[in-house]
Amino acid sequence: MTPHSIIYFDNAATSWPKPAETLRAMEHYLLNIGANPGRSGHRLSLDAARIIMDARAGVAELFGIEDDLQVVFTKNATEALNLAIRGLLYPGDHAITSSMEHNSVMRPLRTLEREGVELTVLACSPSGELDPADLSRSIRPNTRAIYLTSASNVTGTLMPLKEVGTIAREHGLIFCVDAAQTAGSYPVDVEDLGIDLLAFTGHKSLYGPQGTGGLYIRKGLEEKIRPLMVGGTGSRSEFEEQPDFLPDKFESGTPNAVGLAGLEAGVRFVLNRGVPQIRAEEIRLAERLLHGLEEMPGVTVYGPGDPSRRIAVVSFTIQGLSPAEISLALDEEENIMSRPGLQCAPSAHKTIGTFPVGTTRFSLGAFNTEDEVSAALEAVGRLAARVRRKT
Ligand code: ALA
Repeated sequence: MTPHSIIYFDNAATSWPKPAETLRAMEHYLLNIGANPGRSGHRLSLDAARIIMDARAGVAELFGIEDDLQVVFTKNATEALNLAIRGLLYPGDHAITSSMEHNSVMRPLRTLEREGVELTVLACSPSGELDPADLSRSIRPNTRAIYLTSASNVTGTLMPLKEVGTIAREHGLIFCVDAAQTAGSYPVDVEDLGIDLLAFTGHKSLYGPQGTGGLYIRKGLEEKIRPLMVGGTGSRSEFEEQPDFLPDKFESGTPNAVGLAGLEAGVRFVLNRGVPQIRAEEIRLAERLLHGLEEMPGVTVYGPGDPSRRIAVVSFTIQGLSPAEISLALDEEENIMSRPGLQCAPSAHKTIGTFPVGTTRFSLGAFNTEDEVSAALEAVGRLAARVRRKT
């Protein structure tokens, strides 16, 4: 249970609470270090740089990345995805994505479409599942890249990354994965899955603070990607041209060192607990939530019924109430925090048939408990029963 008896089921938006380690690392950085990393060469600046190196190493270990320098830090997954999309594609290129994407993939792609990039959006099933055969059929001679979420932020549906990675390899395509919802809560190994670009956020299941995230770039691919921003890097200061090597090519300006100190601690928390362990506990709670909601009259649950095909994100509706009304009642009457509406993924809601009102979303994290699931099921049950009595 989180402080003040609040049940926090909005971990897909941002995780909370954070581990004590994250808070301590950020306090330590601000109290004892505070300097600009990689700039000044004095001991505090070196300490700050070391923290960022450790954060890079932690992320590399988590995703099976060979060289820590292939991890570029950004302020969030959206910036990482913009780099992977706007930095890579040119007019005349063809890109493929799925209908379950968040707007952080969809909007950069739609923006480029207006500038001459061809786009195919593969229709997923009503539970959000992608058929890899549809992908194979949509490949064209000018197809350059595939952009795919690892799991939907609306339904929790896991995407067939392994199959897509194999298809991408066979056709020489760049495979970019949006791991905003899985980094830290579901195993992702870039080598095993054939991933060339992996966008992640630090403030969800990596248990760092907001304002942290990054992009893994497969070795050699950095030459093909244009930075979104150039400027001071603390390296090659004698040149007026941007460095062309990783990670400096893509990391201009003073970084969010205090945030990365927190991210480093969050990643260590995840590595110490173990992603398979976190996954097992979250999905056990999600399964209870799913089955409990499914049994309630008037309640509809979205996404795959089989928990092994999803992450711990559960979207539902109650007949006779809008998602906004449900989430407001849960907040005000039951101290349960959820996210209503379209969750920035209108295409996903069109796919599952809940556009334009959306759903109420419960999303679990490493600190949720069995008791919280029981309390949430009772709360939704009370709400659904109240609506039934009125109608
Ligand atoms: N993308 C985040 C969510 O799904 C903010 O809520």
